[in-house]
This record gives sequence, structure tokens and C-alpha cells, in this order.
Amino acid sequence: MDVKTPPLDIAKLRQDFPVLHQKVAGKPLAYFDNAASAQKPQAVIDTLSHYYETTHSNVHRGVHQLSQKATDAFEEARKIVQQELNAAHPHEIIWTKGTTDSINLVASSLGQNQIKSGDEIIISALEHHSNIVPWQMLCQRTGATLRVIPISDEGEIDLQAYRELLSSRTKMVAVNHYSNALGLINPVEAIIEEAHKHGAWVLLDGAQSLPHRPVDVRALDADFYAFSGHKVFGPTGIGVLYGKESLLNELPPYQGGGEMIAEVSFEKTTYGELPHKFEAGTPHIAGAIGLGAAFQYLQQQDRPALARHEEELLAYATDALRRHFPRLKIYGDVPHKASVISFLLEDIHPYDAGAILDKLGVAIRTGHHCNQPLMQRFGISGTMRASFAFYNTTEEIDQFITALQRAEKMLS
Ligand code: ALA
Repeated sequence: MDVKTPPLDIAKLRQDFPVLHQKVAGKPLAYFDNAASAQKPQAVIDTLSHYYETTHSNVHRGVHQLSQKATDAFEEARKIVQQELNAAHPHEIIWTKGTTDSINLVASSLGQNQIKSGDEIIISALEHHSNIVPWQMLCQRTGATLRVIPISDEGEIDLQAYRELLSSRTKMVAVNHYSNALGLINPVEAIIEEAHKHGAWVLLDGAQSLPHRPVDVRALDADFYAFSGHKVFGPTGIGVLYGKESLLNELPPYQGGGEMIAEVSFEKTTYGELPHKFEAGTPHIAGAIGLGAAFQYLQQQDRPALARHEEELLAYATDALRRHFPRLKIYGDVPHKASVISFLLEDIHPYDAGAILDKLGVAIRTGHHCNQPLMQRFGISGTMRASFAFYNTTEEIDQFITALQRAEKMLS
């Protein structure tokens, strides 16, 4: 029997996100900057307030009840993330400040005992600065070499060129799962398989994938997976580094301080077990608990229906843009990608158009999207980027198209 799932009730879903119900410059807000940061459901906001109202204390430190309650909630959040990613153990989930911090942790720790002169790190031409600069710094420190996988004119990773870059010198391959600038979905399964044939580790920058689709780190066989809470409808200032237990055990700590030790004397310090070894100092307790609440919220939704809705938004917006703007060029114009459209209208400066859109209630991102080498590859300084979340609507896209028509007229 063909069982039809009920259509997504977007109006009801939007009630969960209070920030969406406001006017900007007298116009209803159409928030299309989700790739930069996603909005928070009431459940996350309530969890944060409830935590501070009833539970706050430091974790792993006190015998008193509040500390135990805070520790329980904090560790429960770690388990929620573990289950969300299908990681094997909760201690494979390391709390960080965000994707950037997670990547810096791995690059910095690798540099202490794993990377030497002559080794190679591979990234792609499609990376966010956060997945370029930490590796450059590591190479400068160690004498290792950074290699870059070329991309096609649409931004697709050249797998053949990647295979040719791999060798016994390759120690780490670090690529994004979904591109923040273009929304492309990279062939990470093939990238991981090839890297492992050469004994290299793979770190995936997952900042842009989890907001759109669930991720199974074990099915992917990713060695490290990094993401930020604020892009998955959770709080800012909290992120995650997933790492396979055996690899995390091989890495030395990133930072020293309280929490991460077993024993300290002036002569010698021994380090704590995972995950504490990588969590020096008081963590962002509320952020971790809020991120747990964000995943619980997502887990309560019909996630395939959310994904279908995003695909519909992408198709609707792409079609409308093509119909109404003959001068339009989409960057990363491939059939299957996340709900992100990066585009230019010939010589209209993205910033000028973005500022006019803002006056008409439409929030997009303009500029290089922290991908300067990618923009150089395309010979441009930046794009306009509309990035959709499941709470966006086709009516908002209509508002965006009308606003962009107005901007085009004013700037031509
Ligand atoms: N990385 C974020 C973006 O793509 C900030 O906008």
C-alpha cells in the first residue's frame, strides 16, 4: 500500500522560530542567510533559559547537587550528539567553540607528533578559510606541504586529479562535505575511500551538511568530522569535533588547563581520558545542552519531508531567478546540491544589491563567503548568496525576486 506522508505544515513549523516573525524596514523578514547562521527554535531558547534558571553550575567538579545536575545535562547532550552522528562512543564527541576551533584542534595536535617535513596535507580549491588557514599554519610549523585538489568551472572536485595527488606522503585530507559558498555536495565517500588506501586520515568540515541532512560518521568512515552548533539551529559558541577513538587517543592535547588533566605536579602532568583531554577549561555548558535540544528538535520532525521542502525551495528559487533575470549567472550550477544559490547579475556589485534587498526585508549574504581562493578561481570578488532552511517559504522567495528586480532596476 502506498502510504502518503502528510504535507509539511510550514506555517506551524515557523511558529517554532520566533525571530522569523518580525519586520525589517517595515517589510516582513525573509531570512535567507541560513548558511551563515540558522535561527533557533523556541525549544532551544527555552532549554537555555531553563538551564540558567534551574541547573547552572560548573561541570565535573562539584559534589553538590547543582553541579551533578549540570554535569548530567551536559553529558546527556554529548550522548544526543553521539546518536545523531551515529558515533561509536560518547567520548568521541569533543566540545569545541565551532567548526573553526575543531579544525584548529586537529591541525594543532597533529603538528605536535604526527606531521614532519616532507609530509603532505591535501585540501580542495573549494574550502572555507577555516579549512585552509589552520593547515597552512601547520605546514609552516612542520615543513609539510599543502596540496590543493582542483575544481571544475562549476566548482566540482576533480576526483582524478585528487587520486594523482595522493601518495604515501599524504597524512591528512581535509575537505568540506557541503560547500558553504556554492552548496555543492562533495563526493566525500570516494575521497575517504581513496585516502584510506594511502593510509591518510580524513577530516570533513561538516558545517554546511548537518543543517540540511543527517550524517552518519560511521557509514562515511570519516576519521574526523567538524561542525558548529549555530548552523544546526543550536546556540553560537559551541561546536563539535567527532574523532575516531583510536585516532583521538593518538593525538596530544590541544590546550592545557583544568579539566583535561589526570595529575599535575610542577615536574610533570598526565592527561585525562577522552573526551576531557581535549576540553581544557570550563566548557560552554549551556551551549552544549542547547545543541542537544536543537538535535532533539530536529529528531522530532519528519526530516525527509524537511529535506524535500528545501529541494522544492531550491528548484522554485532557481527557476524564478532564471526566468526573471536573463543576466544572471549561478556559480556552482549543478543539478544536485544543498539549498544554496550563489549568483551574480553581471556587473551589479553584490554588496549594493544586498543593501537594497535588506531595505526590502530580505537578508542574504554578499561577498567572498570566506572563500577567497574559490572566488579567485572564478575570477570574481564575491557573489550574492541566498541560503534556505526548512522554515523558508515560496512566498518569501517571491518577495526576494521582487526585491531583486527593484535592486536591478536601481543599479543598472
Ligand atoms: N561560514 C559561514 C558562511 O558561509 C559564516 O556564511
